Amino acid sequence: MTRIAIFASGRGSNAREIIKYFQSYNTISVSLIISNKQTAPVLDIGKQFDINTLVINRISFYESEDILKELSKHKIDFIVLAGFMWLIPKYLVQNYEGKVINIHPALLPKYGGKGMYGMNVHNAVHEAKEPETGITIHFVNEHYDEGNIIFQAKCSLDATDTPETIAEKIHQLEHQYFPKTIENTILNL
Ligand code: GRF
Repeated sequence: MTRIAIFASGRGSNAREIIKYFQSYNTISVSLIISNKQTAPVLDIGKQFDINTLVINRISFYESEDILKELSKHKIDFIVLAGFMWLIPKYLVQNYEGKVINIHPALLPKYGGKGMYGMNVHNAVHEAKEPETGITIHFVNEHYDEGNIIFQAKCSLDATDTPETIAEKIHQLEHQYFPKTIENTILNL
């Protein structure tokens, strides 16, 4: 059994799709949801599906390695970032080498890096009048949005698109491809 921890700070629509996808899967399970925000809706989703949840704070995340104990207590083998805003510290990347992946709501290397998250990305894509955008699923290293790319999918844009319709198109692509890409990545470990 490969046990996944999802790190998320927000709405959790991707987390929900991932949980549903693996719900009746024999060899992969979502076993823990970790958030840096006590009030994040993703924690309610975890509870709805009877999955353990954990709220972490910045000081312990960056100045201790306590989270490794939590991850090992829940026998976590693989980490999925689904809307998690904090940079992953080196000790965590090193302990889960090749086993941490993230989804980014644009076609990296474009529109990546610090500060490029959520609507900031879609506003920038809109402003630049890009003819297309998309999603990038990639391995995580100690730098924002720089690990090796695993998968990308594109959608086209036109003059009628707004940052909001772009966000909607991106969420659809994410829900369609993220769970499958997690599955393929784990099966290829
Ligand atoms: C997604 O767009 C993802 O690409 C980004 O954060 C967003 C999370 O959305 N990293 P949700 O909380 O899964 O709805």
